[in-house]
Amino acid sequence: MKKIGFVAAMTLVGLAILSTRYDMVDLPVWHFLGGDKALDPTSLHLQGEFVESNLGAAEGPARSLTVRMIAQQFVFVPQCIVVPAGVPVTFRITSADVVHTLSFVGTNYGLKAVPGAVTEATFTFVKAGEFKIPCHEFCGAGHYAMRGRLDVVPQDQFASLLLGERRTCELR
Ligand code: CUA
Repeated sequence: MKKIGFVAAMTLVGLAILSTRYDMVDLPVWHFLGGDKALDPTSLHLQGEFVESNLGAAEGPARSLTVRMIAQQFVFVPQCIVVPAGVPVTFRITSADVVHTLSFVGTNYGLKAVPGAVTEATFTFVKAGEFKIPCHEFCGAGHYAMRGRLDVVPQDQFASLLLGERRTCELR
């Protein structure tokens, strides 16, 4: 009888672990089937969506917000992003070299940055605060120092920021 109780308890623990929500966004399978538009990781800064002037947060129609980032050995560009709390934010991220994985510490969200492809995901950060963005994929000698920062601020504070300050909080 004791044994059955133990098995039942372990099953419950297992279910609890499995049900912990963690949104790690990987590339869709169809990318590997050749369904994605190829992106040249070596010329990201020269042309297309990921040129420097296009990186960071950009507001679209109906107050939608898109954050574009490049992960590269051993930084995130931009290093610091600021978003309003409670608003869906679409991330579009790619890598300039090898695979990097980032998470927003203190939230359940994460993203994988893969050279040659764009990983897209929409997250809503409910509480305001500062969240570290460490790299979780061993990507070389500087891996352990590769980290960025996400500032989630109340909506009225975000609205009062200047355009450049909304794009990135790098200079603050
Ligand atoms: Cu980038 Cu580890």
